[in-house]
Amino acid sequence: MEGESIQQFWQTHPCGAELVGDLSSETRDEYAEFFARYDEYRYSKEAHILTNLDRISWNGKSVLEIGLGQGADAEQIVRRGGVYSGVDLTDESVKRVTMRFALDDLPYKRIEQASALQLPFENDAFDVVYSHGVLHHIPEIRHAAAEICRVLKPGGQLIMMLYAKWSLNYLFAIGVARRLGLATLCLTGIRPEGIYGDHFDNAKKVGLSRYLSMPNFVSVSTDGPFNPYSKVYDRREIERDFPKFEIIETHKEFMHAPPLSVAKLPFSSLLGWHLWATLTPKK
Ligand SMILES: C[S@@+](CC[C@H](N)C(=O)[O-])C[C@H]1O[C@@H](n2cnc3c(N)ncnc32)[C@H](O)[C@@H]1O
Repeated sequence: MEGESIQQFWQTHPCGAELVGDLSSETRDEYAEFFARYDEYRYSKEAHILTNLDRISWNGKSVLEIGLGQGADAEQIVRRGGVYSGVDLTDESVKRVTMRFALDDLPYKRIEQASALQLPFENDAFDVVYSHGVLHHIPEIRHAAAEICRVLKPGGQLIMMLYAKWSLNYLFAIGVARRLGLATLCLTGIRPEGIYGDHFDNAKKVGLSRYLSMPNFVSVSTDGPFNPYSKVYDRREIERDFPKFEIIETHKEFMHAPPLSVAKLPFSSLLGWHLWATLTPKK
């Protein structure tokens, strides 16, 4: 997996923008309207994010966020008193988040373009490293985990959201329903419009069985058909990829298994798609 193609993907697909209609210009008013639209969508669809942020003690803590997207959680962390720094792989995200902070005159220490694989900070710099929906997109995750350990203070916390292996989305929607659907379309030669048309073309290009192999299909089924890399996690996989940490707690949120309509099912702690985990460096 090439780092450059991952950076290129996120640069051209700013996280979540397609869900609410992306920026149509770069005026301050347009940015302000876009952020309001984006935050309204994000926190109504995934209200648990705010509940989880409320449970964390941010006030006066030095916080590093890795992978900023549109900066919605960044703003929430600062409004809860976090002393904030953030990095993202792309200059597009850095530009957006810097604009978000400027619009409301929010305080921060540093927001810059950098990779989790090479964090531009001293050892023991942060009380909290927060990363929502990012670390499962990094193929060299053990290297990133070592970097995070390096910049965390002893006793500090890594709080992250990773895609969950033991979820309805992975086990059934991606693993069975969407694979079967795509296989049927490809074998009958029916090319649909939209996202499944992109999958159809991709599968023709690389070969159906290779495209449907789970390591590949989970990547292209999580953040769009052109997403280069995603991985799913359970506690054991976290222990493997974050060997310098001990796990304080994990829990699952968010019933999400498209094309099934499951948002209201009350099984998120069992089969939810978002695995939140809090880790601390081993002594
Ligand atoms: C799925 S988005 C999540 C963004 C945000 N945290 C959220 O929850 O909406 C992934 C973000 O992580 C960034 N990213 C991907 N790999 C990264 C890396 N190695 N280092 C830093 N940021 C990275 C991408 O540029 C993108 O902005």
